[in-house]
Amino acid sequence: MCGIVGYIGSKEAYPIIINGLKRLEYRGYDSTGVVLYKEGDLALCKTKGKVADLEAISSKLAESKSTIGIGHTRWATHGEPNDVNSHPHLSNSGELAIIHNGIIENYDAIKTQLVNNGFVFHSDTDTEVLINLIEYVKQQEGVKLGKAVQIALKQVIGAYAIAVFDVKKPNEIVVAKLGSPLAIGIGEDEYFIASDATPFIEFTNNALYLEDGEMAIIRQGRELRVRNINDDIKIENPNISTLNISLDQIEKSGYDHFMLKEIHEQPDVVRDTLRGRLLVNEGVIKMSSIDDHLNKFIGAKRILIIACGTSWHAGLVGEYLIEDLARIPVEVEYASEFRYRNPIITKDDIVIPISQSGETADTLAAIKLAKEMGAFVYGICNVVGSSIARETHSGAYTHAGPEIGVASTKAFTTQLTVLALLAAKIAVSKGSISTTEFHQFINQLDAIPNKIAQVMESESKAKEIAKEYADATNFLYLGRGYNFPVALEGALKLKEISYIHAEGYPAAEMKHGPIALIDENMPVVVIAPKRGHYEKIVSNVMEIKARKGKIIAIVSKGDTEIVNLADHYIEIPDSAEPLTPMITTIPLQFLSYYIAVIRGCNVDQPRNLAKSVTVE
Ligand code: F6R
Repeated sequence: MCGIVGYIGSKEAYPIIINGLKRLEYRGYDSTGVVLYKEGDLALCKTKGKVADLEAISSKLAESKSTIGIGHTRWATHGEPNDVNSHPHLSNSGELAIIHNGIIENYDAIKTQLVNNGFVFHSDTDTEVLINLIEYVKQQEGVKLGKAVQIALKQVIGAYAIAVFDVKKPNEIVVAKLGSPLAIGIGEDEYFIASDATPFIEFTNNALYLEDGEMAIIRQGRELRVRNINDDIKIENPNISTLNISLDQIEKSGYDHFMLKEIHEQPDVVRDTLRGRLLVNEGVIKMSSIDDHLNKFIGAKRILIIACGTSWHAGLVGEYLIEDLARIPVEVEYASEFRYRNPIITKDDIVIPISQSGETADTLAAIKLAKEMGAFVYGICNVVGSSIARETHSGAYTHAGPEIGVASTKAFTTQLTVLALLAAKIAVSKGSISTTEFHQFINQLDAIPNKIAQVMESESKAKEIAKEYADATNFLYLGRGYNFPVALEGALKLKEISYIHAEGYPAAEMKHGPIALIDENMPVVVIAPKRGHYEKIVSNVMEIKARKGKIIAIVSKGDTEIVNLADHYIEIPDSAEPLTPMITTIPLQFLSYYIAVIRGCNVDQPRNLAKSVTVE
């Protein structure tokens, strides 16, 4: 994971790097550092902790007027988070500096070779090995930095996005990418380097996203030079994208946390996801990414959904939707399991990876495997231009906008929106639902953004409930049918930001084990909209009540049965059952948010987590 930032131009580099690192802290935040070039020397400052900790100890660097530098915010892989293991790392001569996002898998073998040649190491990181390998190559081959980086990278197995600086070539930064993202912002007479475009959007909206296996030599006042690392071919006219992100989108806009802001954004972003695709007045769903491959979808023998975490939960809802409406068998797999279990895939299968970041290493590897085995891969992804978006044959963006809070909220509901569009579109195209059923469904879907807006009113109730249960040590979440994945998602949200142990279960499965946990100290969140298996879930609620469990129920407005049994309830607007997850999930997001706030947890940056999991 980790975030990298670099600058070369005529502005002061330090504030650009520090602000950029703050925006990239979602990628990791256990240690951080910056190195600036100053009058023939390197000024380095790094520390365990967050970018704010770095700021507190780097006042000397802040005063320097340096216009070249690189910085890093880390999510530890090799070596615990401490000052020494923080990036940037310097080579043995002290002349080269590197920042790195990724993992060098064969670092141990390279390290042994370097130690045999007299190199010494101060940290436990694979990155320090890489910068010394570059130095070794430079010395041995008598080549310039760019060439040394290229030769060194050919010896490396693993993933990287790196930026390397040589004190002897102070007008140049060399960058390279394989498996981890790297964007270059192109300003007037200046360049920005970052893991994504957010660190430089106020300066330029021209960005070049390096492709895997590419490197670039970035010189101030000179044109970018991009090359393929392995075959040394110059990339003519690299593809420069125009960015469409505003500064406001990546700031908190008055909310205490990004997570809270992102929960509140859901009515708008779900509307954005539907915009231009769901044309209710014309009675159609228009998605060229599906139309272009309609026969594949109609003829698919099986759909495999591959994802991790919250995106995997969205995939489970997708399974219900696609099987229910389009009558195509669906399997949902953790990407990390799929890629290592010798799966059976045929060319009649469609593989749908789902990912907010578009950079999740396991999902990316699973896509590559599915492609090798001949499947058609249709991605559902949020980050435009991300690796997954580029790697898939076709796909749909979720249009949730930048999601900064580590706990996924709006990414989930927009993923559900795309899945609902996809299922309905395939279903009506292959005739597994009638035109009337289709019209009813799309009318219900069209109403979802307003219904999500109504559920925002549940915030104060969720806050009250949170006060009562913030000291709980365990939570159980139960749901059935379409709302079973919501139970899993509710439990995940709570554990990741409040560190309370929580489990999600299909409500009927409770009797096969978890019921043993229920006593007066166990809060049980029951997702029970008045659709689907309502009567069954009423029985489950009674079973909990009989064992004195505390019941927090999410019910449809006007419910009379469960509200009489529950200790607390939150009402949601009624909707067609397949669409209820987009509504029922909102009070659960609020509940976990407020419990985490009351417990004093770092909501946006929970311990040990990172937003973008670019290591397997
Ligand atoms: C949970 C969460 C993670 C991600 C998972 C996949 O709130 O954010 O579980 O859902 O790491 O990430 P993406 O969707 O970026 O592939």
